[in-house]
Parts: sequence; C-alpha cells; structure tokens
Amino acid sequence: MELTRRQLLQATGIGAGLGMGLRAGPLLAAGTDTVRKPYQMQRLVHGVAYYPELWPEEDIDKDIAEMRKLGINVVRMGEFAWSSFEPQQGKVSFDLFARVMDKMQAAGIGVVLCTPSATPPIWLTDGHPERCHKDENGVIMSHGARQHASYFHPIVKQACFRIIKQMAETLGKHPALVGWQLDNEIKCHVAEDFSDAAIAAWHPWLKQRFGRIEKLNEAWGTHVWSQYYQRFEQVPAPFKTPFLHNASLSTAYKMFCREGASEFLFEQRQILRRYSSAPITHNDNPAFNLHHEKQMEALDFASYDAYPNDKQWGSLVFRSDLYRAAIPGRPFWLMETSVSHNGWLGNHQPPHPEGFLAAESVLVYGLGGEAFCYWLWRQQRSGAELPHSAVLSAWHEPSIGYSQVLKVNETRQQLEPLLVEYAMAPAEIAVTFSDHARAMLETENLDKRDGFPSRYRDVVAMWHSQVQQLGYHRDVRFENASLDGLKLLITPAMPYVSPEFLHRVMEFVQQGGIWIAGPVTGTRGKEHTVPTDAGLGLLDDFAGVHTRFVVPLTNTGTEAEAFDQRFEISGWCAAMTPKPGTKVMGMIRTGVAAGNAFLTERMLGKGKVVVLGAQPHGEQADGVMQQVIKHYAQEAGVAAPVQASKGIVVSPRINSQGKPLWVAINMQPETGELSLPAGARDAISGEKLGLSVSLNQYKWRAIQFSL
Ligand code: GAL
Repeated sequence: MELTRRQLLQATGIGAGLGMGLRAGPLLAAGTDTVRKPYQMQRLVHGVAYYPELWPEEDIDKDIAEMRKLGINVVRMGEFAWSSFEPQQGKVSFDLFARVMDKMQAAGIGVVLCTPSATPPIWLTDGHPERCHKDENGVIMSHGARQHASYFHPIVKQACFRIIKQMAETLGKHPALVGWQLDNEIKCHVAEDFSDAAIAAWHPWLKQRFGRIEKLNEAWGTHVWSQYYQRFEQVPAPFKTPFLHNASLSTAYKMFCREGASEFLFEQRQILRRYSSAPITHNDNPAFNLHHEKQMEALDFASYDAYPNDKQWGSLVFRSDLYRAAIPGRPFWLMETSVSHNGWLGNHQPPHPEGFLAAESVLVYGLGGEAFCYWLWRQQRSGAELPHSAVLSAWHEPSIGYSQVLKVNETRQQLEPLLVEYAMAPAEIAVTFSDHARAMLETENLDKRDGFPSRYRDVVAMWHSQVQQLGYHRDVRFENASLDGLKLLITPAMPYVSPEFLHRVMEFVQQGGIWIAGPVTGTRGKEHTVPTDAGLGLLDDFAGVHTRFVVPLTNTGTEAEAFDQRFEISGWCAAMTPKPGTKVMGMIRTGVAAGNAFLTERMLGKGKVVVLGAQPHGEQADGVMQQVIKHYAQEAGVAAPVQASKGIVVSPRINSQGKPLWVAINMQPETGELSLPAGARDAISGEKLGLSVSLNQYKWRAIQFSL
C-alpha cells in the first residue's frame, strides 16, 4: 500500500492525532526458495578462476599440485565455457568438467561452477542480430566479446536456461561443488538494452506498473512537449532524440532494464535449485547495470569483484561494507581480484607493490569476507586479456605475483582460526544505497561541480569514507534493508523518499535513532518529477521544515555557518525555514538564499530527523561532514570510534562470549598510530600491547583484549 501524505502526518504526530494502522510497503523478501539459515563460517576460502577448457588436459595435475602449494582451496570454473560444453547446438558434454571436478575433489579443492550465459556460442546469434543487445544509438552488439546477447530475447533465454539445466543435472550434485555463480558480472560492459525484444517487454512492464495509459500520462506529466501517449505500445524506449527525453521515462527505462537483469538471475536460480542445493552467488560490483538490491533475492551469499591499485584500497572497504550488509549474517566473498597488474588489449597498469595483495586480503577477510579469490590462474594465451597478470604465466611458471599469493596464504592461515571464532561485530552507523536513486542521478546529475563525484556510488562512498575515517564501524545498507541495530542512518542523494522508506525511518527514529537526510534527498517524486506540495515532498513535514527554495549553489561561493564554522556550500541546496519545534543548526550566510536554514533537526519520539540541505564544499568540506557525523553519532549513543591515523582500518569482530577482536591494518605509506584500550595483546604472537601501537604500511595486527 502507498502511505498517503495525510497518513504519514498523522503517524508522526504532525497532523490531527487519529489512530491508524501503519504498515510498511512490500519489502524485498530475504531468502526465496530456501530460508536463510544462521551460518557458521568454517574456513577462509583462497580461490582462483580456472579455465581448464583452454589448456591441454594433461596440465591439470600440474596445476593442482601448484594450487596445493599455494593453499588454493576453491577454483571457480565455467563462466565462459559454453562453446566447449556445446560446440554445436544440441551436442552437449560436461565430461571434461566432471573429470576436473573429480581431480579437485581428490585434492581437497572445492569448485564453484558458473552458469555460462555471459558468452553464448556463435550458433545462437549467427544470422540473428535480433537476439543481440542493442544500445541507445541503435548499435547492435556483435559476437566475439561478452554480454552481446539480449537476455530479453525468448530464444536466448531458452538456450541459457537449457544449458543451465543440463549443467545442473549433470554436475549439480558433484561432491566437489561448493557453490554456483550466476552468469558473470552481469551488465558490466553494457547498459540498457534497446533491442526489439527488450522493447517488447518494456510495454507490459509499464502496463503492470500503471494499469491504464492515463495514469502513466498523469504520473509523467506527458503533455509537456506534447509527449502524451494513447497506448502503452506508443511509449518509446529512450533512443536518441534531438534533445532530451522526459526524466520519468529515462529513469523508468533504467529501472525496467535493471530489474530485468536481476530477474534473469532469479530465473537461473530457480533452475539450479531443482537439481542442486549448493549455495548461489553472483560476482557483482556497484558499477554494473542491474538492480543490485533486487539481485539479492537470487542469492544465498553476496560476492563482489574489485581491481583496485594500491591507491584505491578504499573500494575494498566500501564494497565489503555493502555486500556484507546485503545478506545479513552471511559472509560475502571477494570473487575476483588481480594477482598483480590489470590489463587488456590497449591497456595495462603497473604491478602491485610488494605486500599489497596480502594487505588486501587482510582488509577483505577482516571486514567479513569468507573468500579472497583471484582472476586468474594462468595467463591467457589468447583472447583480449593477454596483458593481465595471473598466478602462473602462460608458459606455466610462477608469475610476478606468485610470491604475493604465497604471502596471502600465510596470512590466511594466521587469520583463519581467529575469524572463524570471531564473527563481524554489528554496525551502529549505516549509509543508504538506493538503486532508484542511482538511476535518478544518472538521468539527472544533481551537482556539476569540478571535483565532486559525478556518480551516485561515489557520493555514497564519499559519505561512507568520512564515517570510516572517523574510526566508526559501518554498513552500507540497501534502501529496503532493515534498520535493525543502527543508531545513526545517513541517506545522501536519494531524490525520492518513498512512504515505505519513511515509515521504517520513522520507527527507527521514534525508538531513538537519528536519521540524517543528506543533500538532494527528497527533491524529486517517485516518477522523477518535482514534488508539488512541498519542496522536499513528504520530508518537509517529517523533518518539520518548510523548504522555500531548492536552488543550485554550484560555483556561487555561497557561505554557510554551522558548528561555529563558516564554510562554502555547493550543489542543489534546500533553503529552509523551521516549523515550530524544529531547531536550526546551520544557516546560509551569503548569496541568493542567505538567511535560510540548510541544516535542521527535529525531535521525533526518542530520536531526531536531521536535514542537511546542501553539500559542504572546499577545503573544510571533509571536516564539516565529519563534524556532522560525529555530533549526531554521539547524540545517538554510537560507541566511541577507534582513534587511529588516516589509512588505518580497524575491523571489529566479536565471539560467542561477547569478547572483541580487532583486525587492524595500515594501508597508507606513512607509519600510523592506533590507540588501544588497556589490556590489549596481539592475538597471534601473544605480545602484550600498550595504549597505542605503530603500524607501518601493510602491517596488520589481530588484537584481543582482556576485559
Ligand atoms: C573481470 C571479469 C573477468 C576478467 C577480469 C579482468 O571484470 O569478470 O572475466 O575480465 O575482469 O580484470
């Protein structure tokens, strides 16, 4: 049900005090065909992507011997092997993979099998351009790379589902099988699909959403530029036009395609489940063009890929915090990372510095990862990724990263007993990630300032990194995730605030939580229109503000004041006045909106609703964001943060007796200091530690405390 504005006002005590039964809207089900059971991690996985179909079969025994030396305990196979399984349509054999799995089983190495839908063989699309993905310029993707087929095309789907069924029937109960991966990085190379097959699915999607075309016309305001439609079938996909499409249509098309990709994964899951009970995942990454949150319905555990260089290690922290929270209680996997240098035709990056790979593994395992896996085992002999590093060279010798892989294994062996005993501690602060907000910000980039993140995920990551730098443990939680356990929730750049979301936030706040609605939040309606009853839609009343203007301050040098500091603000700004009971915490001091508030707070139940209506900018920006976070974290009763130099990441863990363990690592070149409570000792060497400890770059410690 849609919570109406009136109902919300009543519920928050702003309107006439009528008793009423509030109910949250439909949330994504956690778990689908299987109930997600409590999970006890047994070991740390050290894995690698393996392509036996590309090499002589007699190399397998040598590979396995090498893998054992390196402590590789899982291989992932099959994601691009469809043409080996089925070189001619209907002539299917999984014999090679069955033999490899037997050998892996004998060697104590588990296997993750991937469904091969990312690379259909030539016979599926040869002479059939209509089965291929088409981009917004009408360019049809050709066979030869990956992700060229349209998953909306019924014949493509049928062929994918048939090979998946055969694969699951034949290999789905093999004792070496420890998991399934659906597809591979779905929609990482392509965005929205404009094929006829996609458009044929677009119209029913709209019909289901709106029922009658009049409703769509009304919701999208289609008399603007005479877009008005008489039938759903007339609604175009957002192909190139002389100027821009209606924002509602652009955002809706992204959501349609992304939901479609997630549904395709879900359908794959259902097939696998008929023949195999092994847990299912997909190697995701926030950049891909699918509905990330909806995708979780298809998964038993989340996994992600990341290829950072030594300066980009923050992406491991962000993604670990996102994918850990995606399926609560179930550790995530890092499914792919580079042993050393990344590379593809026309590009290569420098090799990782000494020690970086093991440091990455400490971050990932420490932050709740069960697995740390490489792409790939043996350098490609052919294809488009010849320059990419691997554990072994194409000539089957240890590569430049081999010694680092050994180091990861030593690290894993040290961490394993501790991390099996100590699970990840729950976070009290979260930053919201919304797939809908992402689509909206791609349609309408809301801040055009130099140096400001242009992508939604980078805006979320910017807030996340401020929380991390302050030393707080944190989650990144999807829009529909439960707010359980949290004390502070920060929601940056979420233009549409749904009644369902607000309902959950309301309960959270009433019980003592503090919600910070960050810049841009509330500025658009569900169908990507401008709210017409208040500047921030439902948020105005919820937060006890009257939004007078929503005004772009980018490059205006506008100054504001809060927490005894004067600083620049930028981007779209909600210039507000308080309603009775609301406190102004920050004022705009210069420029066209001077004299209005940009930071407000309102008590609601035991908690607070805070609106930060504009983005602090310039040299003081980080300091101001941190001030806001710290102030409200303290008010919300969040546990005191860890005190550490920049670049030190501390992952708090806890065992079944409630005893804490920290995994701390310094990712920066400068030596850093970490303050410790009394009674700390190194969990591996047993050494007693004082009230602080120095960490050089990539130096890590697991630390226990006698309480
Ligand atoms: C990943 C992909 C792998 C390989 C790797 C190279 O995105 O899943 O198949 O291409 O990149 O870095």
